[in-house]
Amino acid sequence: MDVKIKVGRQEEAKAEALVVGIFEGSKRLGREVSSLDKALGGGIREAVDSGDFKGKLNQTYLIPAMGKIPAARILLIGLGKEKEFTIDRLRQASGKSASYLSGLGLASLTTTLHLELKPLQEASQAVMEGAALGLYRFEKYKTNNEENGKKEIREITMLLNSKNEVGQVSKGAFTGKVLAEAANFAKDMVNEPSNQMTPSAMAETAKLLAKNFGLKCQVLDRDEMRRLGMGSILGVAQGSNEPPRFIILEYNGNKKEKPVVLVGKAITFDSGGISIKPAEKMEIMKSDMAGGAAVMGAFMAMAGLKLPVNVVGLIPATENMPSGTACKPGDILKASNGKTIEIISTDAEGRLILADALVYAKRYEPKAVIDIATLTGACVVALGRHASGMLGTDEKLKGMIRSAGERCCERVWELPLWEEYEDLLKSDVADVKNSGAREAGTIAGGIFLKKFVDYPWVHIDIAGTGWDSKEGPYRPKGATGVGARLLTEFLMGWKG
Ligand code: BES
Ligand code: MN
Ligand code: ZN
Repeated sequence: MDVKIKVGRQEEAKAEALVVGIFEGSKRLGREVSSLDKALGGGIREAVDSGDFKGKLNQTYLIPAMGKIPAARILLIGLGKEKEFTIDRLRQASGKSASYLSGLGLASLTTTLHLELKPLQEASQAVMEGAALGLYRFEKYKTNNEENGKKEIREITMLLNSKNEVGQVSKGAFTGKVLAEAANFAKDMVNEPSNQMTPSAMAETAKLLAKNFGLKCQVLDRDEMRRLGMGSILGVAQGSNEPPRFIILEYNGNKKEKPVVLVGKAITFDSGGISIKPAEKMEIMKSDMAGGAAVMGAFMAMAGLKLPVNVVGLIPATENMPSGTACKPGDILKASNGKTIEIISTDAEGRLILADALVYAKRYEPKAVIDIATLTGACVVALGRHASGMLGTDEKLKGMIRSAGERCCERVWELPLWEEYEDLLKSDVADVKNSGAREAGTIAGGIFLKKFVDYPWVHIDIAGTGWDSKEGPYRPKGATGVGARLLTEFLMGWKG
């Protein structure tokens, strides 16, 4: 995506399309829009007065300029009620207008939406973020259809009134672009089918990312994991013909501080294993590596933004498959901290691979560890698609993640980890069992993970937010890329 910043009047801007935001029920056009409307011969006023365009959130209305101004067309985009306006509504309006114009086959647009909200830098970030997110498509496997090779928006110009604003707008736009590209990178990995995005392919993707962004990357294979005693992840991997990988990324933007460790679940396909899942919707389980993808996306963004933080990423990657060599209910595994785990359900595999990663995190003496995982169907039931579950041991860390979630609209909602819940996972034969009864499924997942941490820690369950079978205002259906922006926003506020 090319981003340009220009200073000038709207009625003098040359553009394939000029995007203008209008609030719902507003009687008066703003000063800039009024003079644009005058030059246009009153087309905007007419659209509003006639009621054809009401300004409802994300409503679109295209006005051809008929040669009256240098721009070829005006796109009115509804901003909803002015009193209800938020940074995410701005992100939505920008995303919607970009994908709408891209759908018309345009190659560029000029936007004025960042002028609708203060502070200007944040508004500019939201506008670029929304547009670059909204333009994302996953169409590489559609051969020969009309989607292929068609034109799409490749250039966005942000129009400004004054030279003094250029600095703020370009800073914001750059941040928004980096965040959106990181989320889109995560979406690409998650949308990719599991016959392509294998554990080895994820490791190769991580190596390429490291090369392009100057990160350190190390990949452990099955033998190295065996040497480290990672019986928990190896137990999950033993049913699959695809070899597992343990991916380690490091970004050093701050030499002095002990690191933040990000851990991402990467089950490249979750069949359930011997405790096999029902066939219906099983194809979505290619997205069970969304936590790992989010961590990789966050690395892309923190390096792109050169954040002054020290971060380690741990991504245990494997398939969960049934076979003659697969782990079975009743089996007992030994994790790398020596704890024994009775397998009740081979479908509760995410916590098993995270356990060894959380133990591994300890060696970095981390200031904080955040794990992110499509962990429990129960979280989908509890919170649906608009919030990820959050559980953890550190109030300050939880607060920082909560507010990062508000800023980027990848919101989290907390569930408790009270000691009374420990009973859920008491085993008769081992130190812990990997699954309890049906009650409190998301909490049980958190209780299990808590047995493997002894540092400030937060767990984020993205089972309901990592994949969406409906489209959103700034993304198509499928992978959401959730977590990449959330983790980066968190790191942007991290002071050690
Ligand atoms: N990957 C699933 C959780 C999931 C479900 C993610 C739906 C996205 C959408 C996870 O590995 C799983 O199967 N969890 C089990 C745990 C249970 C056996 C304790 C579940 O939620 O049913
Ligand atoms: Mn599972
Ligand atoms: Zn899973």
